[in-house]
Amino acid sequence: MRLSRYYLPVLKETPAEAQIASHQLMLRAGMIRQESAGIYAWLPLGFRVLKKIEQIVREEQDRAGAVEMLMPTIQSAELWRESGRYEAYGKEMLRIKDRADREMLFGPTNEEMITEIFRAGVRSYKDLPKMLYHIQWKFRDEVRPRFGVMRGREFLMKDTYSFDADRDGARRSYNKMFVAYLRTFRRMGLTSIPMRADTGPIGGDLSHEFIVLAETGESAVFCDRRLLDLPVPGADADFDADLQPVIDRFTSYYAATEEKHDAAEFEAKVSPGERIAARGIEVGHIFYFGEKYSAPMRAMITGPDGKDRPVEMGSYGVGVSRLAGALIEAYHDDAGCKWPVPVAPFHVGLVNLKQGDAATDEACAKAYAALVAGGIEVLYDDTPARPGEKFARMDLIGLPFQLIVGPRGLEAGKVEVKRRADGRRDELAPDAAVDMVKRDVMNALKV
Ligand SMILES: Nc1ncnc2c1ncn2[C@@H]1O[C@H](COP(=O)(O)OP(=O)(O)O)[C@@H](O)[C@H]1O
Ligand SMILES: [Mg+2]
Repeated sequence: MRLSRYYLPVLKETPAEAQIASHQLMLRAGMIRQESAGIYAWLPLGFRVLKKIEQIVREEQDRAGAVEMLMPTIQSAELWRESGRYEAYGKEMLRIKDRADREMLFGPTNEEMITEIFRAGVRSYKDLPKMLYHIQWKFRDEVRPRFGVMRGREFLMKDTYSFDADRDGARRSYNKMFVAYLRTFRRMGLTSIPMRADTGPIGGDLSHEFIVLAETGESAVFCDRRLLDLPVPGADADFDADLQPVIDRFTSYYAATEEKHDAAEFEAKVSPGERIAARGIEVGHIFYFGEKYSAPMRAMITGPDGKDRPVEMGSYGVGVSRLAGALIEAYHDDAGCKWPVPVAPFHVGLVNLKQGDAATDEACAKAYAALVAGGIEVLYDDTPARPGEKFARMDLIGLPFQLIVGPRGLEAGKVEVKRRADGRRDELAPDAAVDMVKRDVMNALKV
């Protein structure tokens, strides 16, 4: 991609309305634009990040055995009356009437709809288990939308729903999502901590929020430091095997959000040196709720004994759009974003220090072609801007590698590679630079 053709409206000043780094940087780097309170347009650069996040989430859902589909954003109130949630949901739900005066709503979540879809198609325990998911925009009329995409009103969520014949089956589905979530966030470069979370009126122990530690997080959290170092299952994880030992390992250490925090237990279980009392961002939430929707909505399955019973369900959300903000909170400095390779909008920023100089233009064109041919995503700054401006802009948008090409270096047969993560700089021959960047990007993309 040539920057001269791209749409990258960067801002010099930090917008006054943004309080936290990720919100400031997303606005400054031309990733998003607020269209209404808590409602954002994803500009080209931000959109690329969103798609990368979405794709990692998708790959790990597929790996765990969930099946992708797409449900509509607009739902009928009728469905929500069946579960009893239409009145209960309150002002967070955006209620709409169509031209025939039918009551509709913009979905804040999809338990009712998926239950309706499931009951239309599955009758017997023999058809189970099933896990279905979609990645779709939600609307929740939050009282206080804030921190940009972190707490929006319209936001992109991945939501999975599991269907099982009995509690043991439901537990196995829950465990699959637990492991899929650990892997999903790790692939993005994030260390997520599964924390005991509120189950609401259902009770039980099967609800975990996946939290990324960050000073600007909205949740107060308490956990054992050793959780940060636990190994996460690799790409060869067998989702048909018994995953309970993995879950047991993670849940053997204390980790709870404020609502579930028990100070006495925390102090008894965790030595002072290992205690973390901090803030965190909820990037995912998994939940087992049994028959909560299947019973009132009559999603029945016939068991081996020939008797009908409500199917066992769980739901599992990932904040896809929130993750863009969470990633910046984890990866930035004063100059801008520092994207990990797997979620970077482009892998490499190619900086032409003297646009119009024949030798420099030619060297850039050659490097560009070689990188693209090698499967590398390149944003080529071919604008006439001065070097200082180009450097600042590249640092702001935070692509993992900068390949800097100028006439003086070329005379010595050299170009420069700068790594945004640690600022390391290498001067080397153009071909060697291209090879090094290609190799390092490909290594970072291994799953
Ligand atoms: N207003 C929001 N803006 C952005 N992401 C959100 C918002 N609300 C929820 N999410 C994301 O969606 C995931 C699933 O949502 P859920 O747990 O149902 O919401 P809540 O925690 O508000 O009850 C959350 O873990 C979070 O990452
Ligand atoms: Mg939640």
